[in-house]
Amino acid sequence: MALDVCFFFVLRTSPKVRNVGRSNCQRLALLSAVETGVNERFRSTSSISNYSELARERSKTVTSFYNQSAIDVSAEKPSVRLTPSTLLYAGKSPDGNHILSSAKYLHKELPVRIAHRIKGFRSLPFIIGCNPTILQVHELYIRAYHVLSDFPAIKDQEVEARYSKLVQQLLDDHKDVVTVLAEGFRECRKHIQDEALIRNFLDTTLTSRLGIRMLATHHLALHEENPDYVGIICRRLSPKKIIEKWVDFARRLCEHQYGNSPRVRINGHVAARFPFITLPLDYILPELLKNAMRATMESHLDTPYNVPDVVVTIANNDTDFVIRISDRGGGIPHSIMDKVMDYHFSTAEQSTQDPRMSNLFNTMTNSGPQSGPMHGFGFGLPTSRAYAEYLGGSLTLQSMQGIGTDVYLRLRHIDGKGESFRL
Ligand SMILES: Nc1ncnc2c1ncn2[C@@H]1O[C@H](COP(=O)(O)OP(=O)(O)OP(=O)(O)O)[C@@H](O)[C@H]1O
Ligand SMILES: [Mg+2]
Repeated sequence: MALDVCFFFVLRTSPKVRNVGRSNCQRLALLSAVETGVNERFRSTSSISNYSELARERSKTVTSFYNQSAIDVSAEKPSVRLTPSTLLYAGKSPDGNHILSSAKYLHKELPVRIAHRIKGFRSLPFIIGCNPTILQVHELYIRAYHVLSDFPAIKDQEVEARYSKLVQQLLDDHKDVVTVLAEGFRECRKHIQDEALIRNFLDTTLTSRLGIRMLATHHLALHEENPDYVGIICRRLSPKKIIEKWVDFARRLCEHQYGNSPRVRINGHVAARFPFITLPLDYILPELLKNAMRATMESHLDTPYNVPDVVVTIANNDTDFVIRISDRGGGIPHSIMDKVMDYHFSTAEQSTQDPRMSNLFNTMTNSGPQSGPMHGFGFGLPTSRAYAEYLGGSLTLQSMQGIGTDVYLRLRHIDGKGESFRL
């Protein structure tokens, strides 16, 4: 982390920052220097020059952090949220005009949405906003704001192609934001008194990020010729199929970690098909299935090769559809029932303390290319609920303490009777 170098650089070279006086920027850099360790200050001259490129880049973002009035202007503008049916029925023109209009909409909309998020970072309590890990995400957003708002007007397909490339690049750059934020807030947990403030920040940041990613991915997907899709909207999504896909994924993780995994039975409206967006389901379903499988395995550690099935039930109607995931993993104890939806609440540590688990954890956690952790951040449930609510739905839990848990994921149809959500 080269913020202390950046501090040095900014003070010496940036008249803009000098104008703001001994302000937040200095305090920010000092705090960061403390957080990153005193050793950083004693870097050799050569290592300082190695960092100069990086420092120059960072100074740009820190400078704009304190001076960029353009961000303030954008942050005052309302965001224009579209219904999925607008996306679905927007029409497709053979000359590719629909792609141009979509890019023009994004070109206007993305800087506004990103400016709203930057405002959110700025409103965080000072001590949290200065955490280097959180600052890293804040700066990613500032950089995204600048590259997107500096992009020229999209007047033809050639410019649009460059714009799409940029959007794809930003999607890649931001792919780990949830993990980095989870880590950043974990680091400064001790400074947090107001739990609601953090919940609001994370709910808003994560759902807004989902909205931005859905719009951006939709635009990129409009370039693809797939008769089953309009952008990111699958015309005839089969809930059963997508559940099966994530069951396979969760079972592989589970087998990797526990040596076995519960069978999953799917029942109810298994033949249902309707237009929907797969992206949010691709996040929520694996999280819920991992939780159900983990609970099942950990409540049967003495009989890992004889565990009860997980049952998934689909209910479809004119207004919405419901996916219930029922496990027989012992339920969520009364004592933690009102905490499981809190960001960072996890019983992962308790698992590692169980002597029957320690060997498995030592050798298997986080290894393997497509493994990923089975649990641990305490983000699965709160993020899934925030996403479901953002989409006009809900995520609720019913625990039968001593037996198991039922999780109900309810999502509104995008072409249903009731009003749909907006992206
Ligand atoms: N089906 C379930 N049965 C029993 N306990 C559950 C179940 N689902 C969640 N929990 C409890 O709720 C806690 C929080 O769940 P959550 O998914 O948010 O976090 P995690 O699984 O610990 O970590 P992460 O999902 O971020 O990897 C879990 O640690 C577990 O104690
Ligand atoms: Mg989880």
